[in-house]
Amino acid sequence: MASSTYAIYGDNSIFYTIYSACIRPYITAETVVLEIGPGRGAWSKAFVHRNCRKLYAVDVVTPEHSGFWKHVGEDPRVEYIVANDLTLPGVPDQLIDFFFSFGVFCHLKPEMCEEYLGAMFRKMRPGSRGFLMIADFDKYERCRAEAGRLSIGRFLTEQTRKVWFPAKLGYSFAWRYFRGKMDLEPVSKEREHNLWSPTANFGWYHWGVERACKAMLQAGFEIVERDVEVCHRDPVIHFRKA
Ligand SMILES: C[S@@+](CC[C@H](N)C(=O)[O-])C[C@H]1O[C@@H](n2cnc3c(N)ncnc32)[C@H](O)[C@@H]1O
Repeated sequence: MASSTYAIYGDNSIFYTIYSACIRPYITAETVVLEIGPGRGAWSKAFVHRNCRKLYAVDVVTPEHSGFWKHVGEDPRVEYIVANDLTLPGVPDQLIDFFFSFGVFCHLKPEMCEEYLGAMFRKMRPGSRGFLMIADFDKYERCRAEAGRLSIGRFLTEQTRKVWFPAKLGYSFAWRYFRGKMDLEPVSKEREHNLWSPTANFGWYHWGVERACKAMLQAGFEIVERDVEVCHRDPVIHFRKA
């Protein structure tokens, strides 16, 4: 986050950056995609938009519950599978060219994430690759600690043109007196419940890049990049099956 000659057009959203780095270059009309935990289908829509050959979208909730079809649109290339376990039932073995999961493994206990890896390895074909977002409480807390450098606050406070003065002032005031409401909620490995949603009855679980990459290697994957650094808060692991 910094001011540039692009002025107000100088910053991309995290989601657009993830799309540009992790999805756009890898999806062609030949690509068979597996997505775990599509939810309403924000990313699924991107795979369809990129004209993938087939998308297997596996979630624990029904598409009616999440509104998946309404958001993505009915499409014969998309197969939605409601999963009751971590074995990826209904996804053919050795068929997947590209794996993607975002905002899902952070909600699973590390043992569950590791169980999923075995199934993913069976479903992916040799030469395939994937991107997996996980929770790492160390990275998350580093992000919070460096808010002044990584957040929009830096963009605003570095502005030197007078026209930005009211925005700078407003932001500094809000950050000083309402940081608790503006900033990310803190997380701690010592606490049992983190980012807990009482209505959904789930939260976040630290898996961590170190343990996650070790588990991925053990499952048989190669690590291309431990963290593609597309997001200041959470790691996204780039991996492949040789
Ligand atoms: C926070 S949402 C993320 C949705 C979507 N990936 C996104 O980034 O917008 C988490 C999703 O993971 C799904 N989920 C939770 N546990 C799962 C599991 N064990 N297997 C597959 N999906 C799961 C939830 O039902 C929900 O749709």
